[in-house]
Amino acid sequence: MKNTNPTSTAAWKDLSEAAKNPIEIKSLFKEDPNRFKKYSVRFKDILLDYSKNGIDERILSSLLALANQTSLKEAIDDMFSGKPINATEGRAVLHTALRNRSNDPVYVDGKDVMPEVNEVLEKMKVFSEKVSKGVWKGYTGKPIESLVNIGIGGSDLGPVMVTEALKPYQHPHIKTYFVSNVDGSHITEVLKQVNPETTMFFIASKTFTTQETMTNAHTARSWFLDQARNEVEVAKHFVALSTNGNAVREFGIDLNNMFEFWDWVGGRYSLWSAIGLTVACAVGFDNFRKLLEGAHDMDKHFRSESFDKNLPVLLALLGIWNTNFLGATSETILPYDQYMHRFPAYFQQGNMESNGKYIDREGKKVNYSTGPVIWGEPGTNGQHAFYQLIHQGTQMIPCDFIAPAQTHNPVSDHHAKLMSNFFAQTEALMNGKSLEEVKEEMKKESKSPEIINKIAPHRVFEGNRPTNSILVKKINPSTLGALIAMYEHKIFVQGVIWNIYSFDQWGVELGKVMAKSILPELQSDEEIASHDSSTNGLINAFKDFQKS
Ligand code: F6P
Repeated sequence: MKNTNPTSTAAWKDLSEAAKNPIEIKSLFKEDPNRFKKYSVRFKDILLDYSKNGIDERILSSLLALANQTSLKEAIDDMFSGKPINATEGRAVLHTALRNRSNDPVYVDGKDVMPEVNEVLEKMKVFSEKVSKGVWKGYTGKPIESLVNIGIGGSDLGPVMVTEALKPYQHPHIKTYFVSNVDGSHITEVLKQVNPETTMFFIASKTFTTQETMTNAHTARSWFLDQARNEVEVAKHFVALSTNGNAVREFGIDLNNMFEFWDWVGGRYSLWSAIGLTVACAVGFDNFRKLLEGAHDMDKHFRSESFDKNLPVLLALLGIWNTNFLGATSETILPYDQYMHRFPAYFQQGNMESNGKYIDREGKKVNYSTGPVIWGEPGTNGQHAFYQLIHQGTQMIPCDFIAPAQTHNPVSDHHAKLMSNFFAQTEALMNGKSLEEVKEEMKKESKSPEIINKIAPHRVFEGNRPTNSILVKKINPSTLGALIAMYEHKIFVQGVIWNIYSFDQWGVELGKVMAKSILPELQSDEEIASHDSSTNGLINAFKDFQKS
């Protein structure tokens, strides 16, 4: 990938100039009755309306120029063609190969990876069908009823997010559980709910060394053996989803029960790989395949569509405009779909672990913002929790509103009510309410002039808060796949333009290493003096509390 400091480009300078003139979004609608048409794009069953952003034709064309001046097209080709763009780890980045339904060859170090990808997919198909059809039997001959995924980070958030989002497709006789936290309460509460005779554990870990996952996996194994009393039975109840065959064997899982993936799959991009096995068992392999197909469709769109109609590119450029030129420091993802409740958390990792970097691709400290804080909750719950700050807080927080037109649960008028909130929020965030309007309103409420003067400022909404609306026909496996891929590629585009490496995560290492060195200190009776006085004080107090 070509390394370009984005601030050195002509487009960046144009955008900095443009940002000096405040834009009122609602005025843009008055000036141009075709604004919605111009600033919305439809791809299959997904409609992206980005017209409620503070951009005009000049800004959009400078943003598109920024993409060209930072060699985005070449970077996209490099990723899809298996170049080692994860340079700090010397790896290709090929989650797109996992869902490459065209089956065209994809080469890593001169070797086509598609035969291996297809082989693992076939193994997943056979296994998931056996589990979901009740053909796979546990150690007492009963079919599997509970799936327990043990993993953390991408090895948890991907499977849990998709399983929740596709709950309407789940086999009725199968229940899913997810254990991620090393806090023993997590596994304890899950084990209380399942029966060893009918439970399948999926140990999901790319490295198979992650402390949390291995600790939970060992606890699950001991719990299982307490009941089954024979190591041979482990093979009927434990499978490994990993790249690390040696560690899987050492743990005691038969390699026949290992579903492999490869180092060119990033942890937070791994749900398309064997890490998706829990999903495939829960919702059926056909639905898992549709998820891959939906993502593949988005990959083709991303790779071939011109940037001005390209959903991931547009989302990325709007994010850059709001972050780097209008000063936003966070962004929300707000799905108006209860099944999508883990979607914001999934992309919290996706974005923040990928683009939370202050060193550029040349090893220098950046002098511009990268990676905004990503957060969110489903609507309408968020409305009654944190929207106050989005409407009237001192910071501008761009929001992505996502909603399906068709619900899986057409219960009385719930969906119309949900959607009326979805539409109302973006309009309110843009239009706000002026002091004059508030005063007028209060007069009609027969408030006294004193009360009006005192209270009116609190009831004013400045508006002009940018939003994207992503309206989807229905959340099904294929549209979900496309939505996930859309956001993945948004992250990639931003990383390219910010000139950072999006596919490593060195920033999580230091804390892990230090926790390892502190663990024996917690287990010894000695007073600890090897740290700063705060850390020593806390560790010693913890040990005292434990004694009493
Ligand atoms: O610590 C961060 C991380 O490496 C993530 O990138 C990853 O998703 C998670 O830990 C889990 O890693 P593994 O799948 O190797 O257990």
